[in-house]
Amino acid sequence: MTALKGNLIFGQSGGPTSVINASAAGVILEALEHPGLIPRVFGMHHGIEGILHDDLFDLSKEDRRELELLCGTPSSILGTCRYKLEDPQADDGDFERILEILRKYDIRYFFYNGGNDSMDTCSKVSRYLQSKDYDCRVIGIPKTVDNDLFGTDHCPGYGSAARYIATSIAEVWHDTHSYKTPMAVVFECMGRHAGWLAGASALAGVIGRGPDLVYLPEVAFDQEKMLADARQVLRQKNVVLISVSEGIMTADGRLVAEQLSSRATDAFGHKQLGGTAALLADLLAGELGVKVRGIEFSLLQRSAAHCASGVDIEEALLAGRTGVKAAMEGASGVMMGYARPGHGAYRCEIIQVPLEEVANREKMVPLTWINEEGNGVTRDFIDYALPLIGGEPHQIHEEGLPRFALLKKIPARPGV
Ligand code: F6P
Repeated sequence: MTALKGNLIFGQSGGPTSVINASAAGVILEALEHPGLIPRVFGMHHGIEGILHDDLFDLSKEDRRELELLCGTPSSILGTCRYKLEDPQADDGDFERILEILRKYDIRYFFYNGGNDSMDTCSKVSRYLQSKDYDCRVIGIPKTVDNDLFGTDHCPGYGSAARYIATSIAEVWHDTHSYKTPMAVVFECMGRHAGWLAGASALAGVIGRGPDLVYLPEVAFDQEKMLADARQVLRQKNVVLISVSEGIMTADGRLVAEQLSSRATDAFGHKQLGGTAALLADLLAGELGVKVRGIEFSLLQRSAAHCASGVDIEEALLAGRTGVKAAMEGASGVMMGYARPGHGAYRCEIIQVPLEEVANREKMVPLTWINEEGNGVTRDFIDYALPLIGGEPHQIHEEGLPRFALLKKIPARPGV
């Protein structure tokens, strides 16, 4: 494979996580270490839309220290988007524009950091550039709190959100067990159609502070069954903690959250979820006559960098750095994924997964990891998720508050 000299561009896309910027740090810092091959590093402002609007940052001009602080800075520092590229066969307008901008800035390394929808973007760009004989290495870097990406053992962002959820539930457990008053609490976790995050609630059970009932979208949600389960727990314990996924659906395929019909739908056809905890808490108050709270973890679960998993941060950084090394060695059209070799102590290896295998697919929680009652997860789930929440967050504090990265975000100019 001949060495390819040219600039690198990096973009972030889809829902943010608390470690997506660690992957950004990995890509940018690694690329800056190879100026002979990669003279300049650009950032897309709001993902692919930044290319379409010729709105790029010159990341070569950032201070190294600020780039390192990205490992403790949540959300997508360059701005994100949910933009769906048309099939180039149907309409190649966006693709022509992308190629024009890549040529303009002499970009030969295209890095896109996102989930299944973003890997669709990355895959389409890769195929289009190949069809035009434009030599460019296209690499996907995974991220999603949903943990539903195909071809990888787990996804950066999941371990941190899982840790936040389990920690918060364990803390709330103490609050709810301090009264004599009977009480029902419903926690709502993100994850869309996959129950990885709701399942992570059960990690709090490892220290005896877990939820009593957990409902995942992989199993049809039955309201009457949930009420019966909750009644039984209340009789025994006086308090019932229930964790649900935002994507739980009834047997006829209707989202419980669909009752909130005013919610918007994005370019990929996904309805904005949320509100299920409040709905179910109301239901429990009416049916069981107990004090209730509905707690939606909402954006907190994917922004809580103060509670991020050190394992997650290190792996997110590694995916970025390894992706750049792999691209310089010739890899293209692949996403950096994670494998967990062997059965002993937890280890993680970076693997390369073809983009088209990942694009637009969702990996669900295996049904064998959900208990027979459909209201909890098994030990296999716990053994899978527990190693991912270990290690401490990378945050520096000033005056009691986190010191987040401050980027200059200097607009890019070609040829400078
Ligand atoms: O895809 C990741 C995710 O965080 C989902 O869990 C959630 O349903 C969705 O994004 C929320 O999207 P948005 O930030 O666009 O509201």
